[in-house]
Amino acid sequence: MAEKDNSSAGKDYQINVPYSQEAFFLKGCNHLDWGMQSRLSQIFNPKTGRTVMLAFDHGYIMGPTTGLERLDLVVPELAEDVDCLMGTRGALRNCIPPTYHKGIALRCSAGSSVLDEDMSHEIIGVDVEDAIRLNASCMAIQTFIGAPGEKSSIENLCKTVDAGNRYGIATLGVIAVGKQMERTTKFFLLATRMVAEFGAQIIKTYYCEDFEKVVAACPAPIVIAGGKKLPEADALEMAYRAISEGAAGVDMGRNIFQAENPKAMARAIHKVVHDGLDGKQSYEFYLATK
Ligand code: 5RP
Repeated sequence: MAEKDNSSAGKDYQINVPYSQEAFFLKGCNHLDWGMQSRLSQIFNPKTGRTVMLAFDHGYIMGPTTGLERLDLVVPELAEDVDCLMGTRGALRNCIPPTYHKGIALRCSAGSSVLDEDMSHEIIGVDVEDAIRLNASCMAIQTFIGAPGEKSSIENLCKTVDAGNRYGIATLGVIAVGKQMERTTKFFLLATRMVAEFGAQIIKTYYCEDFEKVVAACPAPIVIAGGKKLPEADALEMAYRAISEGAAGVDMGRNIFQAENPKAMARAIHKVVHDGLDGKQSYEFYLATK
């Protein structure tokens, strides 16, 4: 039986203080349930509203990519400098210590390798129950707008969004650019908007001209992909432009782990995303750190 609480003295209900109704810090995510917001806060730093994600899921299509030959040596070393790891379940289970407690973007779509001419026909390779067992913060699904596998990739996305909504895990909709598509602003406006309207809570796309328009038209936070390796100064400048034009972060792979000094590069990207350094300042930081 509950004990009687007879002491009326000392209680303070602060009736003149309005009840706290803080808006959630991420664009478009205010209405999401507590669990999903909590998981999103593992990916995005609530202080800045941004994220540095390290993509190391390349093996699922490319095998042992340059710089990622030994996942067990490379990724844990970089993990401390980023907010979130984006990888496959095999890489996570085998190479990432479970004591890692930051964000996990779990690669959940699977498909054919780079040996296939048309890679746009993916499937859902990881279901939501396994994502939960892995304590994932979000599930990443590749979409192929304008490619032969467009419709099935949208089906993968929608099914994953439905499952994620049931369990409180966000879906990261990744925009892939098929061989037949050009990287135009028009394409990215179309693709990002579609993927957000299908319900993805985070969108991953490439930086492009008029990126501000892409951000403005997309109702969900956007993180930019790094793409092929660029000279470090150029990659930092691209990250800076994306952030200053409204990106909520970067999800970079090769431009970090193929850099001459990957750890210094991860730290320099962090400076751009969270500390307001521009491309030049962050490159100077990179040179001084490496
Ligand atoms: C492919 C992906 C990959 O995870 C990621 O984009 C690869 O990273 P990067 O291009 O920066 O090496 O989502 O669509």
